[in-house]
Parts: sequence; C-alpha cells; structure tokens
Amino acid sequence: MQFKTIIEPFRIKTVEPIRQTTREQRAVAIREAGYNFFLLKARDVLIDLLTDSGTGAMSSRQWAGMMMGDESYAGARSFYRFQDAVQKITNLKHVLPTHQGRAAERILFGSVLNPGDIVPNNTHFDTTRANIESIGAIGLDIPVPEALQPQTIHPFKGNMDLEALETVLQEQGDSVPLVMVTVTNNSGGGQPVSMANVRAVSEICREYGKPFFLDACRFAENAWFIKIREEGYADKTPLEIAQEMFSYVDGATMSAKKDGLANIGGFLAMNNDDWAQKCRNMEILGEGFPTYGGLAGYDLEAIAVGLEEVLDEDYLRYRIRSVEYLGECLDAVGVPFVKPTGGHALYIEAKAMLPHIPWNEYPAWALSDVLYIEGGVRSVEIGSVMFGRQPDSSEVPAAMELVRLAFPRRMYTQSHVDYLAEVIEYVYGMRDRIRGLKMVEEPPVLRHFTAQFEPAHDALIVG
Ligand SMILES: Cc1ncc(COP(=O)(O)O)c(C=O)c1O
Repeated sequence: MQFKTIIEPFRIKTVEPIRQTTREQRAVAIREAGYNFFLLKARDVLIDLLTDSGTGAMSSRQWAGMMMGDESYAGARSFYRFQDAVQKITNLKHVLPTHQGRAAERILFGSVLNPGDIVPNNTHFDTTRANIESIGAIGLDIPVPEALQPQTIHPFKGNMDLEALETVLQEQGDSVPLVMVTVTNNSGGGQPVSMANVRAVSEICREYGKPFFLDACRFAENAWFIKIREEGYADKTPLEIAQEMFSYVDGATMSAKKDGLANIGGFLAMNNDDWAQKCRNMEILGEGFPTYGGLAGYDLEAIAVGLEEVLDEDYLRYRIRSVEYLGECLDAVGVPFVKPTGGHALYIEAKAMLPHIPWNEYPAWALSDVLYIEGGVRSVEIGSVMFGRQPDSSEVPAAMELVRLAFPRRMYTQSHVDYLAEVIEYVYGMRDRIRGLKMVEEPPVLRHFTAQFEPAHDALIVG
C-alpha cells in the first residue's frame, strides 16, 4: 500500500453530539453514582468505552434493511434471512435467535447442565460464568499460561491450555457436558485463539465424546488475527477463516451486539437435534417463539447485514489498527497494558500502574474512576470487583487487575483516540496520587453492575 495511514473506511452520514463537562461536574457525577461507572448517566460521559457491546454505529445498509423487517409472529421472512446469514458462516444446523448473548447462554446451560457439572473454557466471560454458576455448575478457566502474563508477547494468548483440558476430561470427564472456547478471549485481554488451538480442542473433544461450543461474540476479529498472524491463512478471506473455525465446533453462543454489528441480538446455534429441541422449549418460555427469539423482525435484518459487513477486510484492518494505534501511543510514554493489544479493547494493567493500592481496594476500579474524573472517559474494571467474589462467598484477588477500554464499532475517529491517549498519559503522570476504594454495598450476583463504593482513605485522589 502506498500510504501508511489506515483510515476509517466509512463516511459519516448522521452525527450525535457529545457533551463536554467540567472536571468538577464529573467529580460530583461519579460520587453520586457511588463511584460505580455503570451507574453514571451516559450524557455525562465524553468518550464511552464502557463496552463494545451494542454500542456501535449501524451502516446505511443495515438501516435500510430494517425497513424490510417482517414482523410476523412465526416464520417471518426476516428469520430466514437471519438464519441464512448465520449458516453461511457457521454451517450449524439449528439457529435460535435470542435477544442477546447471555440469553443464548441461559438457554443452553439451562437445558443441558446439572448441578456439579464442569464447563471448561479458555476464560469464561462474566455472564457465561454467572449462568453456569446459577445452576450450581462450575465454570473452569484453563487459558494458556501466557494469558496471565500481561507483558509476554504471544500471537495467540487466547488459546486454551490443551494439557489442562485433557487432564479435566481424564479425571472428571463424567461431569463435563460440553467444552467452550471464547473467541476472542474478552476477559483474558481480548486476545485471539489460533486455528491450530481450535482444531486441537475439537480433536480432544471428539476423543472424549464431548460437544464443543464457541462463544463466538468476536469471531470476525478472531478471524482477522488468524489471517495476519497464523501461517497459512494470509491469502484466505475472513469469511473462509470463520467458516473453518466453525467447522470444528458442534455449536455456538453469540452476542450479535459485538460482531453482529447490531445494537441488540444474539443467537444459539448447534447441530445436535435433541439439545436443539430442549433449547427451543426453553426459548419459548423466556425469549419467545423460536423464529424471533426476543427480537423484532427488523433486528434480525440488521444482524443479517451486520454479519456480512463485519467480515469486510477494510473494516477489520481499521478496527484492529485503531486499538493497536492507542497501544503505540501508550507504549511511547510507558503506560503498562496487556500486550499485544487485543481486538476490541486495550487493557491497562492497574496492578503494575498502581502497585501501592492493594487488590482489596480495587486498583483497576479506582483507575477507571480517575480516567472518568480527569478526562470524561468511561471504561470498565476487569479485576477483583468483577471476579473476586466466589460461589462459596469468600473473596479472592482476580488473576489480573485490568481497566478495559473497549472500542465501540465504527463509532470514534482517530482524533478521539488521540484525545484518549492524552488523558491516559495525564492520569499515568498522577498515578502516585491515586488511592483505593472500599465497597459499601454489594449485590449477591454480578456485583460490579450495581455495587456502591467510597474512597478507602481520605479521597480517591490526594494532593
Ligand atoms: C465473550 C462474551 N460472551 C458473552 C457475552 C454476553 O453477551 P450479551 O452482553 O449480549 O449478553 C459477552 C458480552 O460482553 C462477551 O464479551
């Protein structure tokens, strides 16, 4: 290519103003939200990197497609268009639309798990783990060791530890109804899984007679990493790579709010007829008739188009480059983050940046609050608040204390990223003045969404 700048591969047709606030206004807003960024009003946020889930911009083709939505209760044309789009990529026999990813998880686990069962994964996402644990089953994380070494450069840190998988299946195989792999590994830093690893997990699952499911939320980003990092895939299209990835699995859960490029939606797909029948029955109870599954016909249309657009090479190149670009800016000033940068997000390593804050004063949560106060940037903690509370009610430190800056799809431009880099650099410069938090109200499940905090000492920022 002649020029090195990778531009946003779109023009902007509709704009949504964002509101500037002062530091004082933000300090009040976060205090009133109990220092919980989930409880902030979005209008008080300047750059919202809380999540890449359902927050992206839809294309003109998607909006046009929505006008074609068929709202028939059963057998709508939009369902078949959606099913075709999913099957073109996955080739899975049964496709159940759901209102988002966690509904697919709840239906799957509610249909096939029993108390005491074990579900291995590279790393379970929080909703996946919560849906497993709500049945009394166990979500087992077995990522490769590199996944927990933030500074180790490895092309596929999302891989599953194959030896650990064999050990579980040998020793506790009777308790394992299925194996999952999350692509990319969101809770492990948005790191990709190699095709070789997916293939190897599949072979082990075949050997032990276990169904293998992908948590496929970011399948297209994972396919792009395989294309640029794994030998033998450079000349394949993202669609061909995704098709190969799905050819190794028996089923998938998907949040279309990520690589479906939609604001809502998801699906559960699988080959097993008996499981599909059980899941359909469960779906009718909670989501609706299996040809709409909690979605409007127009949502199904938007997802069908999104699943095509997300595999566009120009889009994926720009997408992965945006996060990598932020990484380069931060590396230049020494901010510690998980390397290499992930697909949908950059993860600042709060443990390394704030070594003076103990884990039970939640360093990553505190850092996230300070990024908001200083720059109006909303991020999310992936650390001891999210993962610390155990099913037996003990509290333990999370493996890593990370602040995730998740990039909504097709939403922000390079100047937003430049601003973001400046804010992080500024906060890095004041890191010695940041103090920890204590939790003063804690809900029993998924506590991070609604927990309330106060500064553990005199103030969150001292001096
Ligand atoms: C890896 C992973 N799995 C599952 C989910 C749940 O999807 P949803 O938010 O649509 O319920 C998410 C959402 O962030 C995710 O990142």
